Amino acid sequence: MGGLTLRRLRRDAAVRELAREVELTSGKFIQPLFVAQDLRAREAVPGLAGVWRETPQTLLAQIEADLAAGVSKFLLFGVPAAKAERGFDHRYTASQIAAIRARFGESVWLAVDVCLCSHTTHGHCGVLNDSWDHVDNGASVAELATAALAYARAGADCVAPSDMMDGRIGAIRTALDAAGLDGVVLMSYAAKFHSAFYGPFRLAADSAPANDLKLRDRASYQIDPARPADARLSAERDAREGADILMVKPGLPYLDVLRDLSRALPQPWAVYQTSGEQAALELLAQAGLGDLDRLQLETWTALRRAGAAMIISYAARRARALTGR
Ligand code: PBG
Ligand code: ZN
Repeated sequence: MGGLTLRRLRRDAAVRELAREVELTSGKFIQPLFVAQDLRAREAVPGLAGVWRETPQTLLAQIEADLAAGVSKFLLFGVPAAKAERGFDHRYTASQIAAIRARFGESVWLAVDVCLCSHTTHGHCGVLNDSWDHVDNGASVAELATAALAYARAGADCVAPSDMMDGRIGAIRTALDAAGLDGVVLMSYAAKFHSAFYGPFRLAADSAPANDLKLRDRASYQIDPARPADARLSAERDAREGADILMVKPGLPYLDVLRDLSRALPQPWAVYQTSGEQAALELLAQAGLGDLDRLQLETWTALRRAGAAMIISYAARRARALTGR
């Protein structure tokens, strides 16, 4: 009769829920936000349903809607209209941070991405050398620390450098401490790979490297996908330099890295389910080849299972509806 063994705990919803080892709750999600200068109206981001390049007005309205939907943690990307090669002006992004803080106070937790690729004429994440064939590390780190300080002064709870220059975590921590901003959380994109899964983001952030450059891609600063050891060195170094939270990015293609590093280093780990990963799920669903809600929940479960304490997801604003909590 029967012969059930492992299937006993798979039989009904109640016992499945009790046996589950990994929980998904909306409080563990961070929603990215883009705010672009000089837009007349907000624009949809290609490939990411319900994600926009916001205007300053629609940004606040979107956050209000998100709070009502149960999301209160955000990662802001400021996209200024004016591009430069150095000596960047951080007032646009700083003003958006200040506006969010003035309107919502402590009811939002606001992380701000720190990078230069939305600010540079050429789209690289740092300052180029004179022959435009290399990103100058020292000049880039100085600019990044200035940006991080401006965002922290404007009221960011967290600054999150995504540039992958050497030594930026230490430089930013030193700058924050010197300004008396030692309460600001530093989240490092420590294990950020040179990935093809960033496509929609680069449209949203106006940050693709220009295609007439000698330096065509970000391979000289982002981590090679075949070098998990580099990710480990980067994470250990950033932890030593004062990062509070470490990140793996992208998510699903790097579950092994997330698993290994989250076991090796005791800092809380964030994972970034990138724009290309999100668009892939949505395209699968649009083609009638998968159910988006189930794809979303399954990928989030995988990220949590592999060791992520928190998930940055373009669909974070759907998390409460999808998880029921
Ligand atoms: C830029 C940055 C990128 C992302 C976050 N910050 C892309 C890149 O390095 O080109 C990726 C986000 C995504 O694809 O969702 N420094
Ligand atoms: Zn960048």
